Amino acid sequence: MPTESNDSTDERRETALSSAEESDLDRMRHLASLISRYDVEYHRDDAPSVPDGEYDARKRELIELEARYPEFADPNSPSQRVGAELSALFSEVVHARPMMSLDNAMDSDELRAWHGRVMRGLAAAQPTLFDDDANEDGDGNVADPGAPEPELICELKFDGLAVSLRYEQGRLVQAATRGDGRVGEDVTANVVTIADIPRELSAASPMPEVIEVRGEIYLPVDRFRELNEAQARARHALSEAVEGARQRLAGTAEDIPTTEQRKLESLAKLTPVDVQRRHPDYANARNTAAGSLRQKDPSIVATRGLSFWSYDVGEMVGGPDLGSAGEVFDYLGELGMPVNPEIRTFGTLAEVEEFCRTWERDRHRPSYEIDGVVVKVADLPLRSELGYTSRAPRWAVAHKFPPEERTTKLRRIMVSIGRTGRATPFADMEPVFVGGSTVSLATLHNQDQVAAKDVRPRDTVIVRKAGDVIPEVVGPVLAERPSDSEPWCFPDECPSCGSKLERNEGDANTYCRNRTCRDRVIQGIGHFVGRGALDIEGLGERTIVTFYERGLIAGPADLFGLIIDQLVGLEGFAEKSANSLLVEIEAARDAPLARLLIGLGIEHLGPTASELLARRFGSLRRIVAANDEELAAIDGIGPIIAASVTSFFADKGNAALVERLDQAGVRFDRVDGELDAPQVLAGKSVVVTGNLDGWHLSRDEAKAVITARGGKTPGSVNKSTFALVAGANAGQTKLDKAADLGVPILDDNGLRTLLETGELAAG
Ligand code: IVH
Repeated sequence: MPTESNDSTDERRETALSSAEESDLDRMRHLASLISRYDVEYHRDDAPSVPDGEYDARKRELIELEARYPEFADPNSPSQRVGAELSALFSEVVHARPMMSLDNAMDSDELRAWHGRVMRGLAAAQPTLFDDDANEDGDGNVADPGAPEPELICELKFDGLAVSLRYEQGRLVQAATRGDGRVGEDVTANVVTIADIPRELSAASPMPEVIEVRGEIYLPVDRFRELNEAQARARHALSEAVEGARQRLAGTAEDIPTTEQRKLESLAKLTPVDVQRRHPDYANARNTAAGSLRQKDPSIVATRGLSFWSYDVGEMVGGPDLGSAGEVFDYLGELGMPVNPEIRTFGTLAEVEEFCRTWERDRHRPSYEIDGVVVKVADLPLRSELGYTSRAPRWAVAHKFPPEERTTKLRRIMVSIGRTGRATPFADMEPVFVGGSTVSLATLHNQDQVAAKDVRPRDTVIVRKAGDVIPEVVGPVLAERPSDSEPWCFPDECPSCGSKLERNEGDANTYCRNRTCRDRVIQGIGHFVGRGALDIEGLGERTIVTFYERGLIAGPADLFGLIIDQLVGLEGFAEKSANSLLVEIEAARDAPLARLLIGLGIEHLGPTASELLARRFGSLRRIVAANDEELAAIDGIGPIIAASVTSFFADKGNAALVERLDQAGVRFDRVDGELDAPQVLAGKSVVVTGNLDGWHLSRDEAKAVITARGGKTPGSVNKSTFALVAGANAGQTKLDKAADLGVPILDDNGLRTLLETGELAAG
């Protein structure tokens, strides 16, 4: 048998690649060009076409392929690059020290693997410090339990853009973006408008002649929201102008000058989609921050409200000898640079993992976006020993949170019919793991939204799910759109009952007006028995559909007529489960009036207003008989709710439902607690927080009693809060805010006085 030389290996590689290998190499080339394009979109144009999670996943795939086929890897592969090309707008700045990127650890296994590499790197650099026999287990973890762990400093990973701020003799002389890590863009004129960034450093000892402060410019979430609210207002104003223009053109009496006539005509032509395109929503805080920083006009940047956190020092001449990251941050703080308060140093990886878990859970708590935790070796001499790869330090790693945006394939767009008849388009997608769960359905809101986003069946779409938020389709990835794709058309007919769908002028929603439409009825029953309403356990949508299709129920009142023989034998029902459902239904006959009102699904009538109506009128019959004025006389019930209630009961179908519920023996007058309590808290808002165990009433009771007295119980403290009721373990944010704003904080006795008099206890 011939021995295999290197030459023959190469030859085999070149001449006899298997088709699987061929396709891996094709994939590698494709990924390299894809990532180069994504880099340009992200770093240069501030307009990424795919979410970060998708970018990270593709880049990892490329790195893995390059590791498997090193001899075919392009030395200039984008996996080796830090950023992207620069735009022509700003002049170039060569960084005195390169601005590096960070390697990612996507889960705790990868974090442990990084830690293992650090331990091994240190052991190799300082053999005397470690036991020579130290060896690894199969996972790359250091098996020697005796090896000392280096201190690790944990910082939040801010989702903004990196800048380097150069101070000479204490004055800010230059601000540059990261660019490709070696050369960035000069954005000094814009950066000096950012209030958080000092133009002059505070006096510190010793004062550096030169210091490059590196950190992240970001847009606080509140500012991001405000900018989008401003866009929404601009859309609203433009829509009104369009409407005004149409009306003026339609009127015949007026003689409009030609130039104005033209202006009006072009306004009148604008569709809701055009309006959306002229004032689009900003996609996310990071891109908005990056886009803002690249504005040509610094006075615009000044209005955006950008902020800054520092996290590193580049070049420094004449400063102190700093030994650890903790000392670096203390020094930066002394110089007047913003240092994030959440930085922590830990002695063990286990503590670091706990820190990461906590922040993953609380990722939406800060007033700025974060997308992970950066873990760094704290000791600076140890950092030097570990050194750098071509793109990132070995002594740091970014532990990224699971992505809240991913891409997937949109299989089809469907339309669902709600209990009010509203037709809502939604996306049916290939399942994708995003924001902590697997998602395959996401709302597309309404016809205009589908058109504005221009999402089409078979598109690759970006799906977002932030925190508890329901999944949303952000938009299509146009580069991946099939060439024969066609825009999606909203159906003319109800997909459930076939009746014609209607859309009123000026309304974004489309409706099925057929009251007996199957989907409407089923959704209506689902709402009636749902949480917050009659809360009948064991009556999920599938069961309701079964009952409806068997002809056992045609509306909510029929539930109370069900008998055991009808249920036993149906899918999911044996004698025992049928019985317990009937017991639940029986109990629901006696539900509190406020919940019965919720169950009826009256537009605009939420739980607080239902409670107010129940306590003031005491029975459904009296509410049905009340007129607009009587209803609106209640503090907390405005004219919109009042009108909605009267028009609901004026409707023949709804009036018939009330009669049927009455005949079915549903109680109309159960009001728990006090009826018609003195309205001593009318117009006042009282926040309740913490655990009221041992108090004269529970937290829920406290809220109910405050509401019964006309007060409001919002979830957060602001300047219009009358008092904060704080039990044990009260939320610190609320306590701090109350202290800041001078809002009185009440204990059990204070609450007692408040409920009796509506005023604060003396002293
Ligand atoms: S340290 C040499 N610390 O994440 C170390 N970076 O994915 C350089 N980032 O380019 C970075 N928060 O823009 C560091 N606390 C933090 C950070 C952070 C956000 C960004 C930074 C960096 C990118 C790498």
